[in-house]
Amino acid sequence: MILKKIETCSAHAGVIGLGYVGLSLMVAIADAGFRVTGIDINPEKIERLKRGISDVPDVPEAILGPLIKSGQIQVTTNYHVLSELDIINICVPTPLKENRIPDMQFITAAVAEIALHLHSEQLIILESTTYPGTTEEIVLPMLQSNLNEKLGEANSSSLSSDSSKPLQVGRDFYLAFSPERIEPGNSTYFMTNTPKIVGGVTPKCTQVAKTFYEQFINKTHTVSSPRIAEMAKLLENTFRSVNIGLINEVALICDRMGLDVWEIIEAAATKPFGFMPFYPGPGLGGHCIPIDPHYLSWQARNYNYHARFIELASEINSSMPKYVLDKVIQALNLHQKPLNGSKILILGVAYKKDIGDTRESPAYEVIRLMLDKGAYILYHDPHVAQIVLAEGEIYYSHTLTAAMIESVDCVVILTDHSTVDYDLIVQHAPVVVDTRNATHATQNGSSKIIKI
Ligand SMILES: NC(=O)c1ccc[n+]([C@@H]2O[C@H](COP(=O)([O-])OP(=O)(O)OC[C@H]3O[C@@H](n4cnc5c(N)ncnc54)[C@H](O)[C@@H]3O)[C@@H](O)[C@H]2O)c1
Repeated sequence: MILKKIETCSAHAGVIGLGYVGLSLMVAIADAGFRVTGIDINPEKIERLKRGISDVPDVPEAILGPLIKSGQIQVTTNYHVLSELDIINICVPTPLKENRIPDMQFITAAVAEIALHLHSEQLIILESTTYPGTTEEIVLPMLQSNLNEKLGEANSSSLSSDSSKPLQVGRDFYLAFSPERIEPGNSTYFMTNTPKIVGGVTPKCTQVAKTFYEQFINKTHTVSSPRIAEMAKLLENTFRSVNIGLINEVALICDRMGLDVWEIIEAAATKPFGFMPFYPGPGLGGHCIPIDPHYLSWQARNYNYHARFIELASEINSSMPKYVLDKVIQALNLHQKPLNGSKILILGVAYKKDIGDTRESPAYEVIRLMLDKGAYILYHDPHVAQIVLAEGEIYYSHTLTAAMIESVDCVVILTDHSTVDYDLIVQHAPVVVDTRNATHATQNGSSKIIKI
């Protein structure tokens, strides 16, 4: 029955967690013609969404607004709607607790609600990044234990058509893991043209979930279990973290040898096979790369394995803000200035170019280190109007002008946003520390530029 509803796009879909992933997913599902209900625990977010306001730059209000207005997308904080849904996608956060331990509270909170409303012919898909085993060891037992309780209460909605038996996964309801792979700000690859990995708890679960994604995603790739899909996602992000760690280490070596790491990467990248360029920078940022590998190393420890590559890459990557600080001290030193009391312009606080996302951005650490040394900080970011430091201090983005740039002692480029005029920066700044090679095309003033 659910397959028919999916194939005709008449199923009522739901998305739990309307952040970067969930909001994009909700719009993609609605675009395919499904009616979608989004659920989030944040009432302010729900009120904004009801007015068609999108907090996610990759989801334009011109697309979201009409879908809300027509009622094809509805949003709520009320979990009761779960009982009306045929499909539920879980897109809640998976951060780390202290000591880099996976924080599963958002997944378990969402699944507890689903368990209360689970009914036959329902498809549940976990999309949040997590460690291998989550779907089968946490989500499935929670759904089933609640079924057993409900069976005790003889609640007929949680019984299969043969009402003497509880709902069975793969026969009565369907459960799968399908990792989200979107990259904010990537205009070449987005949700619908990035292949979707799908791993169901049973072959029927995989088939139902795959059929659902085929309605709005160009290509699906099925795997034999949720564990494989969970691990594939962690491999992708660990691959990035480890390779960035390697190139950051090469940058540190090149610095000691007086070699330009950027020119070396450019040369190595001319090899048409066996090499993929990664670039150094001020440290890792974003919701995924600094966090996800620790889900894997934590799970590896449960199997008595110490994941050395992951830990080493993390160590090198998290040392980069301190390295940037040293470069700034070195740059000021050339002008006989101490960092204490110097005015530093930070260019870019987003964790990567052309987006406004500052989550886990290394800019916070770089700024904190400089403030601790007595620097006076200003910043400019065309995509981030304000930032709040851990201690609650608020900083606002300054407008870039020649006079403003001339008034500072050093400019530190932390994010290479495309719209920034780097010629203007280099022309007017006394000295520039460039952590992204953003100034590579500037015409004059190379003697002022210190790259990492
Ligand atoms: N952001 C990315 O680019 C990206 C890419 C791929 C995968 N992921 C993964 O997807 C998941 C979601 O990430 P995100 O960036 O969308 O997070 P986010 O923080 O932007 O959004 C999560 C949303 O979930 C809501 N929420 C939390 N608990 C809830 C609950 N119990 N019920 C309902 N809503 C709840 C929050 O209020 C928030 O709006 C994470 O596991 C992340 O690692 C993120």
